[in-house]
Amino acid sequence: MKTEIRVVTQEGPSEVYEEAAKVLQKGGLVAFPTETVYGLGGNALDSQAAQKIYKAKGRPSDNPLIIHIASVEALEDLTDAVPEKARQLAERFWPGPLTMILPKSSKVPLGTTGGLDTVAIRMPNHPVALRLIRESDVYVAAPSANTSGRPSPTMAAHVQEDLEGKIDMILDGGMVEVGIESTIVDLTSAIPTILRPGYITKEMLEHVIGPVQIDPAILDRKGAMTGKPKAPGMKYKHYAPKAQLTIVQGQKEKVIDRIYQLSQEQEKAGKKVGIIATDETVKYYKNGVVRSIGSRMEQGSIARGMYKILREFDHLDVDVIYTESFEGDPMGMAIMNRLNKAAGYSILTAE
Ligand code: TXA
Ligand code: MG
Repeated sequence: MKTEIRVVTQEGPSEVYEEAAKVLQKGGLVAFPTETVYGLGGNALDSQAAQKIYKAKGRPSDNPLIIHIASVEALEDLTDAVPEKARQLAERFWPGPLTMILPKSSKVPLGTTGGLDTVAIRMPNHPVALRLIRESDVYVAAPSANTSGRPSPTMAAHVQEDLEGKIDMILDGGMVEVGIESTIVDLTSAIPTILRPGYITKEMLEHVIGPVQIDPAILDRKGAMTGKPKAPGMKYKHYAPKAQLTIVQGQKEKVIDRIYQLSQEQEKAGKKVGIIATDETVKYYKNGVVRSIGSRMEQGSIARGMYKILREFDHLDVDVIYTESFEGDPMGMAIMNRLNKAAGYSILTAE
């Protein structure tokens, strides 16, 4: 299959939107930018389109898809009863990086929800995504537009790298803004539960709807591998670069020393070493292939740079990667959730 790649902005050109809309209406696949990561879109109400998505990504079919909408009214179509809390969250955070899990209506095929009777819904805050959904008049099921298990795409080139030849079209809307997938909150449990941390934090949600809990499988370091997370996708090894990644945490100077020492040992053993530093520390590393993920002065830049840097090290063919740690509010939990998974929970404390 030939994949059409088109650069696009909110304003147009409108032929590109028309073409993309047609692809979706005919059951084909279009990758498009959202504010979080690029999505791989297909008609959410068409099981066959959903199947194509699973196939293109190499994704297990029990891992449900998020349905992207462009108006709040779509909620009435996709779920039978819209809880008051869902309305409040939609009002406050949509369009935005928040996905809600709700009971699905009969319109939503099980092929889209991985056999579950609940459905994940989100209104993305990206002008290209919103225009595509509106013009196609299709509810767009879209997982991240990467090959299953690889880092999520934050620019069109990443989508091309993974999916060229496997999908109909890629809309190139430039670099995304957030860089980490949406927060997922399950509104079908007695106390709303965060199944995947993201830009929208527990505190932000609680401010609107009162108490919110976090799926214990996320808090427990090993939980995501051995426990039973409620978002099926969270159980898979994810976001992984090819090289073994190790997180080194602790006080700044100690972390730098420890990474230096470890990379020297690895280099002596003939290994190529990659180091994930920050704008503030990049100058202190004297060996290995050193790259900055972003600046600690602007946490958003670290989230935005994470998947890109993991892909970059794949291209540099390093054998091992050491990274500094990025805890701390407000996005620290989401960043470390993804980084821990990318590292397969290989974490050292520098003392
Ligand atoms: O930011 C995002 O959410 C991006 C952009 C493209 O919107 N999408 C995304 O989709 O990250 P994906 O497929 O990579 O991740 C969807 C996650 C998976 O972990 C999946 O298991 C979970 O959502 N999920 C979907 N439907 C669910 C449901 N009914 N119950 C529990 N978890 C669900
Ligand atoms: Mg994904």
